[in-house]
Amino acid sequence: MFMLKVGVLASGSGTNLQAIIDACNEGKINAEVAAVISDNRNAFALERAREHGIESFFSDASDKRRHEEEIDRIFGERDVGLIVGAGYMRILSPQFVKKWYGRIINIHPALLPSFKGTDGQGDALRYGVKITGCTTHFIDEETDHGPIILQAAVRVKDGDDRDSLAARILKVEHQILPRSIDLFEQGRLEIHGRKVRILPGDSWMEYALPDVLYSEGF
Ligand code: GRF
Repeated sequence: MFMLKVGVLASGSGTNLQAIIDACNEGKINAEVAAVISDNRNAFALERAREHGIESFFSDASDKRRHEEEIDRIFGERDVGLIVGAGYMRILSPQFVKKWYGRIINIHPALLPSFKGTDGQGDALRYGVKITGCTTHFIDEETDHGPIILQAAVRVKDGDDRDSLAARILKVEHQILPRSIDLFEQGRLEIHGRKVRILPGDSWMEYALPDVLYSEGF
C-alpha cells in the first residue's frame, strides 16, 4: 500500500520530529519519516532519528547551494513526497522552494503574520500580547509567509516567562504539525492563492487540549 514518505529538516532538539514519528507509529498518519537532515551536527533531532532507525544526515549549511543540493538528493533518492521543517532555522532559497512548492511545509511558534523570525515566542511575550499560538504553512519564497494550513491559539498567562510560554505553545505545535501532514497525505489541502482550503473529512478534535482554539480542519 502506498505510504507517504516524509523528509524532515530540523536544527534543534527535535520534539516536533518526535511528534511526527510518534503519530506515524501510532497510525494517526499514513506516512513514514524516510530521512532527517540537520544543519546542526549536534542536533538532538539526529539522535532521535537514529533511535528510531531513521536515516539521519548532517548537512553543512555554510554553503547554501551545496546544502540544498544535498537535501534535494537525499530526499529525492528516497521518494520523499513532503518536506517538513520541524524546528529548522535556515532560510531556503527561492529556487529550492520553487521546485518543492506545495510539497514543503513549516511550523512557526506564533500566529503568523505576527512575530515572524527566530524567536516568535519571545517576541510575542515582549510585545505584551494576551493571545499567541502556532502556525503551519506551506513554505514559499518569502520567510514565514506561505499559505497557512492550521493555526491554534493559546493564552499568555501572568507570570509567564519565555520558557513557560514556549512550552505551552510547543504542546500545540506537536498537534498541528502532525495533523497538517495527515491532511496533506489525505489529499485534503488545496492551495488557492494565499488561501488553503481544507476539504471536509475526519477531525482530530478528540485530542484537543483545554483552552486552546484550533482553526477549521484540525
Ligand atoms: C519549536 O518551538 C519550533 O517551532 C522552533 O523551535 C522549537 C523547538 O523545536 N523552531 P524542536 O523541539 O526542535 O522541534
